[in-house]
Amino acid sequence: MNPKEPPNEGRKPSSAPLGTGSEAASGAPSRAAPRVASEAPSGDPWLLTPGPLTTSPGVKRAMQRDLGSRDGRFIAVNRLIRERLTALVHGQATHTCVPLQGSGTFVVEAMIGTFVPPGRKLAILVNGAYGRRMAEICRYLGREYVLLEGPEDRPNDVARLAQLLSEDGDGAISHVAIVHCETTTGLLNPLEEVAEVVARHGRGLLVDAMSTFGALAIDARTVAFDALVASSNKCLEATPGVGFCLARTRALEAAAGNAHSLALDLHAQWQAMERNGQWRFTPPVHTLLSLDQALAELAAEGGVEGRNRRYAENCRTLIAGMDRLGFMRLIEDAFQAPIIVTFLKPADPAFVFEDFYDRLAAKGFVIYPGKLTMAETFRIGCIGRLGKTEMQSALAAIEDTLGEMGVADCAPAPRPA
Ligand SMILES: Cc1ncc(COP(=O)(O)O)c(C=O)c1O
Repeated sequence: MNPKEPPNEGRKPSSAPLGTGSEAASGAPSRAAPRVASEAPSGDPWLLTPGPLTTSPGVKRAMQRDLGSRDGRFIAVNRLIRERLTALVHGQATHTCVPLQGSGTFVVEAMIGTFVPPGRKLAILVNGAYGRRMAEICRYLGREYVLLEGPEDRPNDVARLAQLLSEDGDGAISHVAIVHCETTTGLLNPLEEVAEVVARHGRGLLVDAMSTFGALAIDARTVAFDALVASSNKCLEATPGVGFCLARTRALEAAAGNAHSLALDLHAQWQAMERNGQWRFTPPVHTLLSLDQALAELAAEGGVEGRNRRYAENCRTLIAGMDRLGFMRLIEDAFQAPIIVTFLKPADPAFVFEDFYDRLAAKGFVIYPGKLTMAETFRIGCIGRLGKTEMQSALAAIEDTLGEMGVADCAPAPRPA
């Protein structure tokens, strides 16, 4: 590649159509032959997981460069990424984007440490592992918190939150934190209703939108939040290594001096980047190049709406196929996000999850174990660079695998009353 070429020039969004993986080129290691050919264009298995995910050939190609962190071309890419991410929530007039090195947890920790002032309290809505992780972060940071915990298969209780905030007479609670989609289960929490209650009580809202950003619409003009975090490697379909915070500029200004950590201080990261467009510490250049390309591909797919359409179709295809095979789901349709689906483990003794997992992986499909306290489950994701054809191939592979294992009935054990 011509080193003078501006980062995005000469590179169109990948034109590889979705759902063509089954015809894709190979050169890959041989596997047990499934009924439907099932191989990602890279020769790797399809990742039906919560992330990192299958990326497009264009996203992988975008990383085949070396740009210096002080290089004007890299600085331009970085600026464009920040602008595009802010625009995805229509936050241009109110919010700014602060990217941060690391996986999603790093930016969740940075958000809590930067926005919740020492001596104040964070109310955390919990119905899964990622809500509980925010509490763990608070314990590490020595920030006070209060949990509003509910069952893992039910959305956050908005009325209970309203009551908690009305009873917080001395205003100790400065912020409320919500996980938009609890990836533990695939359950969608009521972000809009929570934001309305939090705004009415004059508190700040912190959102973990790790597994929805880019695929579920969030509009900063109508949903009030002080900070929202996500990462490169989920619904944006880039490679892992960078998170970002979309922060209300006024709230970020007011957060100066709160942070417990030099590297995770989002205010300092923002100030430095505003000064000269550069990162304070070594940026994940290649991941950012992949994100630049992934954002171009998102736009080419019709933005958040287009991506939502594909994921919703993936999810419908998956659910219809698994229902037909007799599997039961944990989450009611009304609360199911088109991101990842939790299935109850069949009670049939022939179903051993590890064996099921290995056989599916050998056929080219990687699924995910469960992460619940309430039931034995496993999960199948519908996000990443895959479409209906791949979901249908995965279902065929699942059916074949059940046959090989001798699983006659996919019904789960009855749940204790
Ligand atoms: C909702 C949510 N929050 C936080 C995280 C943590 O992200 P990471 O594993 O990248 O640190 C995840 C990861 O799946 C997630 O789904």
